[in-house]
Amino acid sequence: METIILDANEFNIKLCSDVLQSGGLVAFPTETVYGLGANALDEKAVAGIYSAKGRQEDNPLIVHIASPGDVKPLVVNIPDAFEPLVRIYWPGPLTLVMLKSDIVPDNVTAGLDTVAVRMPEHPVAQSLIQAFGCPVAAPSANPSGKPSPTKAKHVFNDLKGKIPYVLDGGDCRVGLESTVLDITSEIPIILRPGCVTYEQLKGILGVVDIAGTEDVKVPASPGMKYRHYAPRAPLIAVVGSPDKTAEYIAKHIDADMAALMFDDFIFSHPNVVTFGSSKDYATQASRLFNALRKIDDLTSTSIFAQVPPEEGLGSAVANRLKKAAGNNIVDLSD
Ligand code: TXA
Ligand code: MG
Repeated sequence: METIILDANEFNIKLCSDVLQSGGLVAFPTETVYGLGANALDEKAVAGIYSAKGRQEDNPLIVHIASPGDVKPLVVNIPDAFEPLVRIYWPGPLTLVMLKSDIVPDNVTAGLDTVAVRMPEHPVAQSLIQAFGCPVAAPSANPSGKPSPTKAKHVFNDLKGKIPYVLDGGDCRVGLESTVLDITSEIPIILRPGCVTYEQLKGILGVVDIAGTEDVKVPASPGMKYRHYAPRAPLIAVVGSPDKTAEYIAKHIDADMAALMFDDFIFSHPNVVTFGSSKDYATQASRLFNALRKIDDLTSTSIFAQVPPEEGLGSAVANRLKKAAGNNIVDLSD
């Protein structure tokens, strides 16, 4: 199959909506990362997503809708936390996990009794879902395990030959995947940190838990257990103050290694890639996945990465870097 990158004009959005209608797959931009979409209510179409990505069957998908009202048929009830969250964060990078209704096929939710739903803010994503008129299941449009795509070209390089079209909506603004929040329990639980931060959610809900922390027994999203976002060379996540991590990396790096550094801690070495200044977490988020792809192209033996502190959006950046590192973490924090 030939893969074509399309300008996101009205004609091409209709073309892609027709592909979804006929049970096919299309990649489209969202404000977070590019998604690989299929008709969320068509089990066979959804199966195509798993095979195109090489995705594990126990890892459920996010269902994308065009307006908050579209959530009703997908769930058995609307939890109390829904309304205040949606008023502020939809459309936007917040995914809500709720109890699923029978119309959602089992392969969308990987057999779970919950479904993850989000209303994206990107105008092309909105137009596509509206034109299609039905919910769109869409994981990030990368082969499983690789960094998520933030440019149409990333999707093309990753999935060419497997899908007919990539709608080009330019660079993704946020650059990291949505925050996944389980609102089925009394106290909502962050399953995956993202652009909507713990601090912001706490401000609205009063109390929020984070999956994977000591006193929260709920496991993180099924997807979070897999090695993820990984370049080919092993990545070593270096945690601590930017001064300390930079000093450590400069001291331990060899000529054939590479480093992912904050702009304000760059040093002279042929394989240094930067991804934003140490305090600017929004820029780090938007540049991280592209930087991981760039560093992958350098074919180094291993890669050091400076990890921002776990506050605000820094938490989501740190989460992705630690996932990319597997268990390879050097902790220099006090
Ligand atoms: O920003 C995003 O969320 C992007 C864009 C395309 O919308 N999508 C995305 O999808 O990141 P994906 O498939 O790469 O990640 C979905 C995450 C996985 O960690 C998955 O395990 C979790 O959401 N998830 C999906 N349904 C779930 C459910 N019912 N319960 C718990 N976690 C769920
Ligand atoms: Mg993904």
